[in-house]
Amino acid sequence: MSAISIALLGCGTVGTGVIKVLEKNAHSIEKKVGAPIVVKKVLVRNPDKLRNVATNATIVTSFDEILNDPEIKIVAELMGGETPAKDYMLAALKAGKHVVTANKDVVAKHGRELFEAAESSHVDFLFEASVGGGIPIIRPLKQCLAANQISEIMGIVNGTTNYMLTKMTNEHMDYNDVLAEAQAKGYAESDPTADVGGFDAARKIAILASIGFGARVTLDDVYTEGITNITIEDIEYARELGFVIKLLAIAKHDDRGINVRVHPAFLPCTHPLAAVNDVFNAIFVKGDAVGETMFYGRGAGELPTASAVTADIIDVARDIRHNVSSRILCTCFEQTHIYPVTK
Ligand code: NAP
Ligand code: HSE
Repeated sequence: MSAISIALLGCGTVGTGVIKVLEKNAHSIEKKVGAPIVVKKVLVRNPDKLRNVATNATIVTSFDEILNDPEIKIVAELMGGETPAKDYMLAALKAGKHVVTANKDVVAKHGRELFEAAESSHVDFLFEASVGGGIPIIRPLKQCLAANQISEIMGIVNGTTNYMLTKMTNEHMDYNDVLAEAQAKGYAESDPTADVGGFDAARKIAILASIGFGARVTLDDVYTEGITNITIEDIEYARELGFVIKLLAIAKHDDRGINVRVHPAFLPCTHPLAAVNDVFNAIFVKGDAVGETMFYGRGAGELPTASAVTADIIDVARDIRHNVSSRILCTCFEQTHIYPVTK
């Protein structure tokens, strides 16, 4: 079968990883899809920047060159931020192109509008990499655990802050030095205040709560406190008492409604999450039939995130091959009472 042409919006940490994975595993991916996947165009801001990857794709600086190219069937949005990422995704969906994204800002805030656009155009809209980096969590929550009433989703969902807290705990590294290290490794958002302020984790738990509870949970519903006030002294004090400090994201659904929060917490050293270190994330999901499940892996970085994005691209490519469409993963959200966190 003829190749399936795709375009990437962005060639930074994640876009570079996607090009590398598609190249390295081209043979096995072609066998899985039944056709080769070819990156035809890549949108960037600065075409003269040196890239950490070689590609035969055409580098473009105008989104219209992608939107108006009828050969491009799948658009992978890997730019980040709200604008113009949301507008580009919406335009692509309305033009009948399938969209894959790693962008939690847009999914958390504008998910509904994008799901509706995908549904009207009968195309796929997938966003596995928006939570947990390389960890499979969106599909398991929506599909594999669909038989359950989910009562709790809880864990570590930000790689940058977990990396920072680990280094501050184990190597007594200075807050600013370790943040700079996380940025250099490509873990942090372009504006790292989203990581250290807890907003990145808040977006992710809003997405997970919306999917897990079938409710509309927005960023405004999430009580959010980051790690900006955590000092080496706090970490030492915790250690003396047999605890570690972790940034937790917690969503609960009970008789009162839904409660969602992100904040640093003292965890006993024996708690399973206390052993989740560096850039790793871990997410517990509790369902009434399955009981407790745990999802664990690298929560950020070039190749782990590319693993999730590329899997979405492969899924869409298979849908194109088999003429299946509109697998949007979530459209129906019930209005549920969100109750505030009491300190
Ligand atoms: P990044 O390294 O900052 O790369 C962003 C890319 O988008 C760059 O290539 C940039 O072009 C391009 N870009 C940005 N704004 C643009 C615009 N207005 N027009 C054209 N191109 C534009 O970001 P990243 O770390 O790869 O993250 C991308 C997305 O993945 C974000 O939504 C992020 O939250 C998400 N994500 C990241 C990770 C991770 O570990 N990094 C993990 C999970 C999800 P130039 O190169 O020319 O500047
Ligand atoms: N900045 C994010 C993190 C990237 O550190 O977890 C992965 O979503």
